[in-house]
Amino acid sequence: MIPQSFLQDLLNRVDIVEVVGRYVQLKKGGANFMGLCPFHNEKSPSFTVSPTKQFYHCFGCGAHGSAISFLMEHAGLGFVEAVEELARNVGLDVPREAPMPGAPAPAAQRAQTLGLVDVMTRACDYYRKQLRGAPVAIEYLKRRGLTGEIAAHFGLGYAPDGWQNLEAAFENYRDDQLLDAGLVIESEKGEAGSTKRRYDRFRDRIMFPIRNTKGQVIAFGGRVLDKGEPKYLNSPETPLFSKGSELYGLFEARIGIRDAGYVLVVEGYMDVVALAQLGFPQAVATLGTACTPMHVQKLLRQTETVVFSFDGDAAGRRAARRALEACLPHADDNRSFKFLFLPSEHDPDSYVREHGAQAFADEVSRAMPMSQFLIGEVTAGKEMHQPEGRARALFEAKPLLQQMPANALRGQIIHALAERVGSSVNEVAELCELHIGAARRQNAWDKAPAKREKRRVVGTEHRALQNLLMFPALGNELTEEETKILREMGHHGEIFSEVLTLCREMGAEADFRYMSDRLKISPNWASFDDIIREILSFEENARDLMLFDPEDEAQVERREEQIALRLTELRSAIRRLHYDRLCEALETIFKRASLTSDELRHAQALSRERDELKRWLASAGTGGTRS
Ligand code: CTP
Ligand code: MN
Repeated sequence: MIPQSFLQDLLNRVDIVEVVGRYVQLKKGGANFMGLCPFHNEKSPSFTVSPTKQFYHCFGCGAHGSAISFLMEHAGLGFVEAVEELARNVGLDVPREAPMPGAPAPAAQRAQTLGLVDVMTRACDYYRKQLRGAPVAIEYLKRRGLTGEIAAHFGLGYAPDGWQNLEAAFENYRDDQLLDAGLVIESEKGEAGSTKRRYDRFRDRIMFPIRNTKGQVIAFGGRVLDKGEPKYLNSPETPLFSKGSELYGLFEARIGIRDAGYVLVVEGYMDVVALAQLGFPQAVATLGTACTPMHVQKLLRQTETVVFSFDGDAAGRRAARRALEACLPHADDNRSFKFLFLPSEHDPDSYVREHGAQAFADEVSRAMPMSQFLIGEVTAGKEMHQPEGRARALFEAKPLLQQMPANALRGQIIHALAERVGSSVNEVAELCELHIGAARRQNAWDKAPAKREKRRVVGTEHRALQNLLMFPALGNELTEEETKILREMGHHGEIFSEVLTLCREMGAEADFRYMSDRLKISPNWASFDDIIREILSFEENARDLMLFDPEDEAQVERREEQIALRLTELRSAIRRLHYDRLCEALETIFKRASLTSDELRHAQALSRERDELKRWLASAGTGGTRS
């Protein structure tokens, strides 16, 4: 039994584009990647892989799933093999545990993580102590204009020159944890049989500890003193650290962000530290990577306004474009994303030092709103006075608009764009395949539109099954009696049984993504597949289900609300199903010519139960009971 928390963690870390890309040639098409579907024969690509949703879907044959199911279905691996393969890719060990409903993250995994945090904390303390005794390093920081106070606030340190300095910080320099934490490197060269040579990763560098939102040190960035290559050296990906989802300075900036009412996203470590000293404690930095949707999601937990700062040159523009794409799926009407372009010779650090804090604050307040940046991006360099140029702009706008939730902001952008290209709003919407007005869902992950779509009328059993698949936690809320009713449900009993058993195995952390992956190895997959497709295309929750993040309080709250609601629905469905079954049983009994007294008593009991249920169903307003 592999714990659900681990699978979630794993799916958050692997890059599905990379996994699928090993087998299928993918080309970027807007926000997604496209290729020829490996699950059916086709000549033009209808197979899409979404990096933001970490999900693939074929519009031709309907194949769909996560990185795990891709490896199962395409590479033919078993579930456990697929998980192990992916875990190896991202350097995780697959924890195993006896199935225990509701058990928290496995002890072994937690112990490992705790152990690594311990190791990182100790290294951090060591580097800080070394800084005090290194005048050259102190001199460097002073030259960069930093005070001792701000250096202490960010826990800056110094890794001295030399190959095995950490021997002084750890009792056992050969401890595997040092390797797992990325603090030391092992040379491949060691002679056969001899122990491999081991040395410190960080040597003669200013050390910037990277903390998670709990304040634990999970990685380091190390800068050379003055000249040298590489300028910055970062910790590798470890069980603690994944640079695609961590932000430098977020822990230190929490209060600054709250007070300022926005977060400022910059590119460099030095920018964050310098800005904090110069009056902008609300700054954080990505770690030498493009901004990802995961970064944005993390930031949105702290504030609803995100201001990105980029250099004014081509590289800055490209980085801004990536950030824009990372924001689009999160662009709800209550949120605001802005883009600030500094003169190309400046980064925020140098800008503030040259022009002062007030000038920088003015720049921030004049930052470009996302809508303007988006329209600028798609119209830039086009001959907008020619039909071709305007058509090209629309062509480029399409994938961006499709990434947005169907909300007021998107409507406004469509309006503005329609004006720029001299078309009607409806024409733009149609060309971009956006469904406006009618509130038809654009794709499975779009947020629920303001107007709720009328729920499709489906059979009671069908609906019950849907609810269980979407929220497997429901399975564990049911009473013994209720599960029994489902398990004994005519020809669907087997299907319900299978799902309920999986619910129990998964325990409290049960989740739709995991459930849909697990069912792929079921003999009844064909039945489940249909239902899962329906969920993805029609459920207003599909987006939450696919992107569920247990650390996001708002999402957790929404999920709890949903579960409570669905539990009520499921319970009344079960009673309804039970009622129908009682009716059938009674009909069969009364069709017989004569009954023994035992049979009669039994029939009376059933009949009483049925009447009780009937009253309950009538009062619960589910209507349509047979008599
Ligand atoms: N970076 C990196 N590896 C490098 C160079 C840069 O990881 N070899 C990342 C670091 O996170 C760095 C950011 O990219 O902070 C921005 O790089 P750069 O603009 O070169 O550095 P600054 O932060 O401006 O650093 P400094 O002012 O100290 O030169
Ligand atoms: Mn700089």
